Amino acid sequence: MTDLVVTASRGLHGEVTPPGDKSLSHRAAMFSAIAEGSTEITGFLAGEDTLNTARAVRRLGIDIEEKGPGHLIVHGKGLDGLREPGEVIDLGNSGTGMRLLAGMLAGQDFFSILTGDQYLVQRPMGRIVVPLRRMGAVIDGRSGGKLAPLSIRGAGKKTTPIQFESPIASAQVKSAVLLCGLFAEGETSVIEPHRSRDHTERMLRFFGVQVAEQGLQVSVRGRQVLRPRGRLDIPSDISSAAFFLVAAAIVPGSDLLVKNVGTNPTRTGILDVLMNMGADISLENEREQAGEPVADIRVRHRTLHGVTIGGGLVPRAIDEVPVIAVAAAYAEGRTVIKDASELRVKESDRIATMAAELRKMGVGILEHPDGMEITGRERLTGAVCESHGDHRIAMSMAIAGLRADGTTIVRDAEWIETSFPGFESILKRTAQ
Ligand code: S3P
Repeated sequence: MTDLVVTASRGLHGEVTPPGDKSLSHRAAMFSAIAEGSTEITGFLAGEDTLNTARAVRRLGIDIEEKGPGHLIVHGKGLDGLREPGEVIDLGNSGTGMRLLAGMLAGQDFFSILTGDQYLVQRPMGRIVVPLRRMGAVIDGRSGGKLAPLSIRGAGKKTTPIQFESPIASAQVKSAVLLCGLFAEGETSVIEPHRSRDHTERMLRFFGVQVAEQGLQVSVRGRQVLRPRGRLDIPSDISSAAFFLVAAAIVPGSDLLVKNVGTNPTRTGILDVLMNMGADISLENEREQAGEPVADIRVRHRTLHGVTIGGGLVPRAIDEVPVIAVAAAYAEGRTVIKDASELRVKESDRIATMAAELRKMGVGILEHPDGMEITGRERLTGAVCESHGDHRIAMSMAIAGLRADGTTIVRDAEWIETSFPGFESILKRTAQ
């Protein structure tokens, strides 16, 4: 219902600190709930998705104190401290919230039901239900358990460790299985075809849990106690930073500093892609925060050229592909994105939605089952674009409007609240 109106920018300038990392915020709320003692969290993302996870954790009997914006204290009750919820838990739009929580609940000694909004109940859940059933949980759902709502009768003390070979590189699947494995006696392992983001592994280590990694296999021994060891400072989300990195890269005259960004190598595919396209990017003030690398990122405009993106780079840039498509739309030559069929099961079918929206602005796009080919142009034409209920599509189209002729209107832009509260005001401040 909210329109975001964007006109051409004469360059992005100044500094931006994007909101806290979404992946880390989900994990911080859940892991601190099963830790022994209280965890202080700063930089927690106050977006719709992660607020739903925090609400879910409260429904499981965990106290969360709000000290200030993004500043929480979660009073964990240990591995056996969660309580059977009295009502259905609604995770809203969040795939991460639903899949990780399902992993935790599959190891409990109680019954729970998880649901989500009109988009989340269409997204594939079989990928977690299959291994979690093998671990002993009794799970049902629509389409035989392939779709939410999901009912979960946890395996409790009978949770069985497994060795799971995941057919897809998915941090949500890996994390759901490892989380359930924390409640089992014995070692649970996940093997992936490519490395997915390793925030679960790093945050479990932050809580003192031993996690073993060997190539593409990650293992955790169950019943290890999680203990908060200092404050959990969540850095800014590179997936939110990506909109401003691309904006500054494509709009002539730009020179922008994006601050406090998480630069975990399993997430920095966007930096590799932009650098391969010829972007002028440098990392400053590199440091570490709560087991995660962090840096400030400076971007200056420079003409980009088309590239090919595929293989192991895709999981490292999966959430950034919509805005990479915008960079490609303004690059010289052709960009090919392949091996990215996972995009079809995100908050929207991001291959179809980006192709439809960029075409409205005059971009030549070929759609493939696992990606797209984009032929860049010097300028695009402003258009009326739809968000398709997808925060990243809404923000990508707003960025596309910064170098388009005329006005670009993004309809239903309220979905941006999912991950990036304050996006519009930051955009207005930096992109004069
Ligand atoms: C996430 C993993 C990715 C990513 C999502 C967040 C996570 O999903 O797209 O936005 O926090 O684990 P998949 O596990 O489905 O690849």
